[in-house]
Amino acid sequence: MPITPSHREGQSGATAAFMTDFLSAWGFRAVVLAFRLGVFRVLTEKPRSPEETAKLLGLDPKGTAFLLDVLDCLGYVSAHAGVYSPTEITRHLVPMVSDGVPYFEKIVFRDWGGLEDRLRGATTLPFEPDEPRTPRWLAQEWRVFQDGMIALANMNIEEVVRETPVPASAGHVLDLGGGHGFYSIELCRRHQGLTSTVLEIPEMERIVRRTVAAHEMEGRVSFRAGDFFTDDLGTASVILLFNVIHSKSEPQNRKLVERVATAVEPGGVVVLLDQFAAPEFGPLGRAFGSMMSLSMYNNIGQQTYGLPQVREWFTQAGLERVTTRPLDSAPGNALVIGHRPA
Ligand SMILES: C[S@@+](CC[C@H](N)C(=O)[O-])C[C@H]1O[C@@H](n2cnc3c(N)ncnc32)[C@H](O)[C@@H]1O
Repeated sequence: MPITPSHREGQSGATAAFMTDFLSAWGFRAVVLAFRLGVFRVLTEKPRSPEETAKLLGLDPKGTAFLLDVLDCLGYVSAHAGVYSPTEITRHLVPMVSDGVPYFEKIVFRDWGGLEDRLRGATTLPFEPDEPRTPRWLAQEWRVFQDGMIALANMNIEEVVRETPVPASAGHVLDLGGGHGFYSIELCRRHQGLTSTVLEIPEMERIVRRTVAAHEMEGRVSFRAGDFFTDDLGTASVILLFNVIHSKSEPQNRKLVERVATAVEPGGVVVLLDQFAAPEFGPLGRAFGSMMSLSMYNNIGQQTYGLPQVREWFTQAGLERVTTRPLDSAPGNALVIGHRPA
């Protein structure tokens, strides 16, 4: 959690600003390590001393005591009479993000380890950014990637599902690049009789089927292997494009939105979810959209887009009543919703 300088510390202006950023980066490393080592998990079972925590996890007691003090400074645990407990925020975070921790670590520590070389032009991507292709570059890391996607989805899914308009309860959803399938599952759970197809690259089949089975939604959510740029999309009353456009170029996205606007049934709805560096979303939201852009540039030569730009793709493709819904549960994320005339 961000460290807020006391009044006296805040007086030091430039130093406090730089130190806050430095300590946030340093602290994030300690926090993800604590997740990975199981520190939060064992403290959630019951409050424990540093010695007991270390013994349970096979760690060095002296170092564990230092780590717990760092986590206390950051607001993740609190100490009373020599034992540590997770704070309320940590109790919420543990089920929400624990499985996604390797993904967050990868983004911050591994991917951006190569950012300097990318910026200096010392490394190039092994493909053309707007080459029509399925993202096989991720094949090695599907599990880490999709666990990260699920952790992010856990943060906003309730609001996304609530805010997604479904014209006919017994209709059909086409979830393009639906990844793990979790959004489809929750949408179908909310609307009786609704069914969904997750259209994904073939490598995702096992992960989607496993997630669907874990939620006992086999009868309602199906998997289809394909490429949404080239395969016939069929038709659906609701088409989802969630977290897809930031990995594609502007011409690819235009083409994709055109394909989607043709595939959606008359009276149907297209719902897009992505990150936007929109100042009106507030400092946290703008920073998330902005950092995602730099991250996409670094990894795959792509970026996040502007809201007016995305709205224009929608209207150019013939979609009407195009609206934007910033998500309160996920700063920097917004839904763009467009309707095909009946
Ligand atoms: C960032 S993930 C988003 C997953 C999910 N929609 C979510 O919001 O959590 C993007 C997904 O798009 C899929 N994808 C990318 N290009 C594709 C294509 N041409 N055809 C089908 N799926 C594609 C990827 O396999 C990946 O799972």
